[in-house]
Amino acid sequence: MSLTPIGEPRQKITVASLRDKKLHQQPITCLTAYDYATARLVDEAAIDVILVGDSLAQAMLGYDNTLSVTVDEMLHHTRAVRRAVKHAFLIADMPFGSFHVSKDEALRNAARFVKESGAEAVKMEGGEKRADLIRRVIDAEIPVAGHIGLTPQSVNVMGGYKVQGKTLAAVEQLMRDAVALDHAGVCCLYLEGIPKEVAAMITAEVATPTIGIGAGPECDGQVLVINDILNLNFGHPAKFVRKYGDAAALISDAVQAFRADVVSHQYPADEESYHLPKETQRALETVLERKRNMQR
Ligand code: KIV
Repeated sequence: MSLTPIGEPRQKITVASLRDKKLHQQPITCLTAYDYATARLVDEAAIDVILVGDSLAQAMLGYDNTLSVTVDEMLHHTRAVRRAVKHAFLIADMPFGSFHVSKDEALRNAARFVKESGAEAVKMEGGEKRADLIRRVIDAEIPVAGHIGLTPQSVNVMGGYKVQGKTLAAVEQLMRDAVALDHAGVCCLYLEGIPKEVAAMITAEVATPTIGIGAGPECDGQVLVINDILNLNFGHPAKFVRKYGDAAALISDAVQAFRADVVSHQYPADEESYHLPKETQRALETVLERKRNMQR
């Protein structure tokens, strides 16, 4: 079922439409997705951007942080999402280690996301110091999304998942990061875990659309992790998470009801079972009857 109102055909979201949205102050919506079924529902709900985030390491694969997830794992999930998405702009995260060794290797990995998984852009964490690399990838016709502030791939350097940009020096660095990525030509800029005042300043300063997560209401758009909004996160939710549904309760209730039905012989019912055609049933009864007679 499509949720698009009749008479309003949906446009494909592109790099240009994201810029347009910023220009016209229309909020950009973004959610993560990691599999076909979820991505299909997210796309049909008219979300603008679907991000196959490396948060899939925790959300889907049960790792403690995002550092272990590989390019091949990211590609596997991005391909599934690609098959579902018709209108949203599809971004795939470049995982830790895939763009840190050399520019050539980064470019090769970025190209894999486009060629092998159908991503329309790749996302790379890091600010000013990544600007040259990002320019090089964009020069190779691959749109890049930037990501600054609380960058989870830097968890060991930051000493935990801490709000960034709290001192004047840190605010100045964040502003330099944002401007460097803006000049490098990123298609959008994720701002994570920074004070809302800083996100507002960056959003006003750069031409690039900003998409915030834990960065206050004045970004050009907002992103959340799909598992967080569905209560499918087994950790302690961050302050900025709002739960819009309870998939954990839904799944638990359904699974427990199934188990109870099987254990009490309530499932499957006759109407949930296949039946032999009448002629075959009659023939079978004749054969069984003959066998019984022979045994007497
Ligand atoms: O991996 C991810 O899901 C992300 C978003 C939260 C921005 O990077």
